[in-house]
Amino acid sequence: MEIFYEIKPLRAFLRGKRKNLSSIGLVPTMGALHQGHIELIKASRGQNDLTVCSIYVNPTQFNNAFDLEKYPRTLDSDKEKLEKAGCDVIFAPSNEEMYQTKSEIGFDVGEIGSVLEGEFRPGHFNGVAQVVCKLFNIIQPNRAYFGQKDFQQYKVIENLVDELQFDIQLTSVPIFRERSGLAMSSRNQRLNESEKANATVFYQSLLMASELVKKGEQFITVKNKVKQMCEATPNVKLEYIEWVDTKNLKPVQNVLDGSVLLIAGYVGDVRLIDNLLLE
Ligand code: PAF
Repeated sequence: MEIFYEIKPLRAFLRGKRKNLSSIGLVPTMGALHQGHIELIKASRGQNDLTVCSIYVNPTQFNNAFDLEKYPRTLDSDKEKLEKAGCDVIFAPSNEEMYQTKSEIGFDVGEIGSVLEGEFRPGHFNGVAQVVCKLFNIIQPNRAYFGQKDFQQYKVIENLVDELQFDIQLTSVPIFRERSGLAMSSRNQRLNESEKANATVFYQSLLMASELVKKGEQFITVKNKVKQMCEATPNVKLEYIEWVDTKNLKPVQNVLDGSVLLIAGYVGDVRLIDNLLLE
């Protein structure tokens, strides 16, 4: 496995490889890797000759300085996990390397990025779009893999690829869960055991909400029930649960097919998200 911290040598290496390879897969991450990320590596390895994993905690997508400071950074153990998973290349740049010049070009990802997460984390998706564009330009992968846990992020990146006409095939890989149901997330590393147990309320809420909407319950009633369930769980604060169309993230009322339930909230000071596709 090769590790690059700088763009120039990575580009030179990939240029050389491209001559003999038919495809390169990219798994963009912010590190603190878990099994969910390893599933992305597996998916990429299954479809490409060479897999690049980027590890970069991108400051421009954090709207909260505390969250950025506390984001887990575990490069040494990430390297071990990636080596074991058969990843070919790690790209782990510094902030200076990624943002060599002052950023003058702003990103506006439009309506799809302004609702849900966009409402609670203003500017978040603009930062995601900015860094993903940079990674796509630097690595020029044929395919890129993202986790379904960040459902809205995937929609934003799909739009980006369409609008800017990147010749990159995107794949969303299903959520990988702990046995308790808790969706795997790098931020889970900041939870102690009892907080992890409390955090399962988000998945339980999604399951309950899915049962209720399938029975035809009004979504306003479902929301209230989820609110009560979260309020009854120590240290948990619900930010939102919404039921939306997977295509445009607009609220739905009674159409199950092609819809998704999305939830976000805090356990202590750790913000978590999860979702459940309905059919
Ligand atoms: O999903 C993530 O880990 C990040 O948002 C991404 C896509 C690597 C961009 O920094």
